[in-house]
Amino acid sequence: MDNIKEEFISTLSHEIRTPLTSIKGFSKTMLDNWDNLDDNQKKKFLNIIVEQSQRLINLVENVLNVSKIDSGANDAVLKKIDTVSAINAAIAMVKMNYKDFDFVFTICSKEPVLADFNKLQQVLINLLDNAAKYSKDSKKIEINLKNDKNNAIISIKNFGISIDEKYFDKIFDKFFRIDTYIKSSAQGSGLGLYITKHLLDLMGGKIEVSSSKSPNYCEFRVHLPLYEVESAIKEALKAKL
Ligand SMILES: Nc1ncnc2c1ncn2[C@@H]1O[C@H](COP(=O)(O)OP(=O)(O)OP(=O)(O)O)[C@@H](O)[C@H]1O
Ligand SMILES: [Mg+2]
Repeated sequence: MDNIKEEFISTLSHEIRTPLTSIKGFSKTMLDNWDNLDDNQKKKFLNIIVEQSQRLINLVENVLNVSKIDSGANDAVLKKIDTVSAINAAIAMVKMNYKDFDFVFTICSKEPVLADFNKLQQVLINLLDNAAKYSKDSKKIEINLKNDKNNAIISIKNFGISIDEKYFDKIFDKFFRIDTYIKSSAQGSGLGLYITKHLLDLMGGKIEVSSSKSPNYCEFRVHLPLYEVESAIKEALKAKL
């Protein structure tokens, strides 16, 4: 327990120190050299400060989510959700940060799901953000929506670095990041998939991953209960009582 706590604090301190150092450094450079910097340079520095502040906000948000999950709170509000609109909304959010990416959404089913809208958004944004963040040169992300008898199946596929099969379980652990060269260039705290998996648990869903080196791809598949199926089960139970 102490080891876990220690690791938590040391990872968190590092994750906080990096963006803070950068925010302080760029602010100080601007203050010290204000008259010698042109508008373009000032804009560039301010953009970095905004970006790094956002990184800190995301980290705090993630840590709050983790502590909620760890305390066992279940505040999921399950409702009928238009799956297509939910996916489109998440794509629009992520596209703001990755304007040059092509998000190709194929709709093979339009069945609504029973889910918590905000939690579903968080799940989709985490997965789309990862797909873009861990794409190397490819700028294409494929999103596919279909369903089987009971579930909607949302797949998010990118063509960057592959994930070795031995990590398929590990990547859903708290703070776990695969040690590749990209780890240093792609920022993150290793909390996204941990949170994603737990949010899906709360909504009666699940997540699977598959990946290959040739052809090079990584695919995450989310399963969520279909609204009509869940309603039919509830009705059947009611009739029995
Ligand atoms: N689409 C992907 N392609 C390749 N590797 C991935 C992909 N998605 C996740 N990973 C690997 O799984 C690890 C865990 O992902 P997770 O989303 O939990 O953390 P993160 O992206 O590193 O940080 P955070 O989401 O907290 O900002 C990543 O660090 C990366 O190594
Ligand atoms: Mg992530």
